[in-house]
Amino acid sequence: MSKMEEIQKICLNRGIIFPTAEIYSNISGFYDYGPLGTSIKRKLIEYWREFFVKSEDNIYEIDGCIVLPEKVFEASGHLKSFVDPIAQCKKCKSIIRADDLIFEKTGKFVEGKSPKELTEIIQQNKIKCPTCGGELSDVKMFNLMLKTEISPVGGKTAYLRPETAQNIFTSFPRIFRATRAKLPFGIAQIGHSFRNEISPRHFIVRVREFNQTEIEMFYDPEHQECPKFDKVKKNKIIIVTREAQKKESEPIKITIEDAVKKKIIPNQWMAYLMAKEFEFYKSLGIPEEALRFRHMLPEETPHYSGGNIDLEIKFDFGWKETIGNAYRTDHDLKNHMKLSGKDMTVLTDDGRKVMPHVVEPSFGVERTLMGVFLHCFVEDKQRGWNWFKFPAKIAPYTAAVFPLVNKDKIPEKAEEVYETLKKCFDVFYDDGGSIGRRYARADEIGTLFSVTIDYDSLDKKTCTIRDRDTTKQIIVKIDELVSVLNKLVNGEIEFEKAGKLKQ
Ligand code: GAP
Repeated sequence: MSKMEEIQKICLNRGIIFPTAEIYSNISGFYDYGPLGTSIKRKLIEYWREFFVKSEDNIYEIDGCIVLPEKVFEASGHLKSFVDPIAQCKKCKSIIRADDLIFEKTGKFVEGKSPKELTEIIQQNKIKCPTCGGELSDVKMFNLMLKTEISPVGGKTAYLRPETAQNIFTSFPRIFRATRAKLPFGIAQIGHSFRNEISPRHFIVRVREFNQTEIEMFYDPEHQECPKFDKVKKNKIIIVTREAQKKESEPIKITIEDAVKKKIIPNQWMAYLMAKEFEFYKSLGIPEEALRFRHMLPEETPHYSGGNIDLEIKFDFGWKETIGNAYRTDHDLKNHMKLSGKDMTVLTDDGRKVMPHVVEPSFGVERTLMGVFLHCFVEDKQRGWNWFKFPAKIAPYTAAVFPLVNKDKIPEKAEEVYETLKKCFDVFYDDGGSIGRRYARADEIGTLFSVTIDYDSLDKKTCTIRDRDTTKQIIVKIDELVSVLNKLVNGEIEFEKAGKLKQ
């Protein structure tokens, strides 16, 4: 069983993430989150908000609708271009993504080719159905947006948004005025997006409903400099350049500053955000060697883009984009202005009418979550159980409280401690089975600390804290427990120095 399959099994068994409406026949590409999954996902989103929005003075968050009218996607280009080429097997009827299959069989990127050209490539290379070896139909284009109708009598076509970005562009003039913002400034949005993926796969990596956290950073194209660039310019990132992809050579490690100088990254704004992304992922427990940026090849890059660079995580099945960075220029605002007739320009302090340019980091929450699950998963033969080394920011529980025995007033004391901790942290109470079994259950879901209440808790008013990562134990005064846990969670004190080490 691969590591990802093992994790998927735990997610099912512990009710963390499981197929939507699973009591009926399974519809692939949709997942529900149970109590633990919900907690981890919410914390991940909140951490993102802290890291990318609240830490900046000029980024504003909005919460727009999921259903958007057709005009929005006419302007954005999704109606015409948000399509994947598909072919159907004439024998077993399975639907296959033609470009993926051609890449698999020939190693050639065929982005941008017409259905006719793709059909010819399939025929020339004698490519057959990967499931049954049957003959494939001609290729046709399939739009990935999920369509719906507004009003009881229909007739008003709308779509579930395939990205959160479009609400940001359509509300740009109002937000700009309402916040009395000046360029540069950003609008962020966190929420659900939908894509009718042809072949959802790899658990929550490719699904049909997922969450995105996106920022559109608007700036004056005549003043492209990012005021905070100096803060990150010496940070190093790992990137697979276009050249490296052509020659199949290794990624390079380069400072943000050099990557801009060498025009690998198109501008300071994208560079600043990329530096933050790299730090953010590392702080989530994903090691540097499992992270890389990839400069997208010209044939993968939209014609209007000034450069696209993906951040990829290494999964069991290979590298996969989890954040898309795009220099969207003024493409979206310009097209919305054309179609809506509304002015999307802004007036600068020096009296120029400017159509802002935009840099967009677009995170997938589920893909990031899968990367975190995978790289925080510890297969631990010594302990005899596997566990998640989640960082404190996203661990579902800070502590578990255990009464050593279920008699002699120990449960009463343990419940008292539990009630106190509950006011400050996410905690749970467990009095079932041996202490060893309880440690295992707490570790398995990434609980940071286990607090045991024993006979000393009654006489000496102390308790034992066990550290998930090292299994070391310290004795602390119950009165000081909240303060000690706070310091530990915030990394203000080393575990062994936070109390009396138990030998
Ligand atoms: N607004 C730009 C945009 O949506 P994208 O590269 O198509 O760009 C951004 O998507 C991110 O959204 C991806 O890097 C990925 O993490 C996530 N994503 C896209 N499609 C997904 C899917 N079917 N399942 C899960 N996550 C997906």
